[in-house]
Amino acid sequence: MSRVGVAFIGAGIVAEMHGRGVSANPGARLIGAYDPDRARSLAVTAKFGGRPFESLEELLADPRVDAVHVLSPARDHCASALAALDAGKHVLVEKPVAETAGELVLLKEAARKAGRVCMPAHNYIYAPSLRRARRLVESGKLGPVASLWILYNIFHPEEIAAVYGGVLREVCIHHAYSLLYLLGRPLRLMAITSRVHYRELACEDQAMIVCEMPGGAIANLWCSFAAGDPTADPWAVVYKILGVKGGVSYSWNEAQFEDGGGPAWGLPCYEEGFICEIRHFVERSIRSGEPPLSTLDDAADALRILEAAERCASRGQALEPVLYT
Ligand SMILES: NC(=O)c1ccc[n+]([C@@H]2O[C@H](COP(=O)([O-])OP(=O)(O)OC[C@H]3O[C@@H](n4cnc5c(N)ncnc54)[C@H](O)[C@@H]3O)[C@@H](O)[C@H]2O)c1
Repeated sequence: MSRVGVAFIGAGIVAEMHGRGVSANPGARLIGAYDPDRARSLAVTAKFGGRPFESLEELLADPRVDAVHVLSPARDHCASALAALDAGKHVLVEKPVAETAGELVLLKEAARKAGRVCMPAHNYIYAPSLRRARRLVESGKLGPVASLWILYNIFHPEEIAAVYGGVLREVCIHHAYSLLYLLGRPLRLMAITSRVHYRELACEDQAMIVCEMPGGAIANLWCSFAAGDPTADPWAVVYKILGVKGGVSYSWNEAQFEDGGGPAWGLPCYEEGFICEIRHFVERSIRSGEPPLSTLDDAADALRILEAAERCASRGQALEPVLYT
């Protein structure tokens, strides 16, 4: 079977993980990358294969490109993904997939019309440990779920954080799609944000969202770029689900090594999510027509959760309904 030809639109920090994911997949190969900063597309293709493209049009016109990974900043995701679908390419779009619900509607319709996959790059939930966690919840073996905890404590210097901005939109999107995957839709939530270490950036570097779930479970979603956890049992990225009859936990601290190349590059659990996500995209969704574990509809629900959190944090309200209509 011929390998799926992949090209990257955007070749910044996250392209490293996508390069590793494509390289780990025998069913895919990198054809090239386009980035307005040519040095970046040159660096990524020198490391992972293929060649730099001079423009998006040149990339999309290449018949060897079957699929694209949209790895540019969020404001560009929708336009690039629509152009790729229009050119008949399958699309994997980095998070946050879109900035508005309207963009997600456009993407869903364009994918349907083109008969191509448009998959959110919701990498965290592709980790085998979280797929097992969902199976355990679904099987009822944990009993009724009482609480869920998703904690993220990774210090990011302000120059790295400047690429992303506020943690609520940029990082808690991982928490939101993970919650939807593991327990489903929250009914109501409370949210608070704060800024502890940013000096130049005016946005929040910490956020806490507490969600009320159907059935009474409480989901606690925490993110901080302000402080890492140097203690003996560190909470870098931790998932925990506690049920009446049992529990499940998962931690990125299961393995780590020194890799000063980029943020979280030395955390194999982080890398594993990308490898499994890209395998699913190529082998399950493109080749076999299976849906992603997290769809464009889930991306829309995740956005609604964050919008409710933004409303709550800005108004200082106690409980904010999530509006799914
Ligand atoms: N899933 C994850 O764990 C994860 C981690 C980091 C970043 N991300 C997401 O990936 C995306 C990129 O983040 P990053 O850290 O690589 O940022 P970055 O700023 O390092 O890289 C973005 C790159 O896109 C390029 N670019 C800008 N406009 C473009 C366009 N129109 N077409 C093609 N390229 C364009 C820029 O020149 C830059 O090289 C963001 O949406 C971010 O939230 C996801």
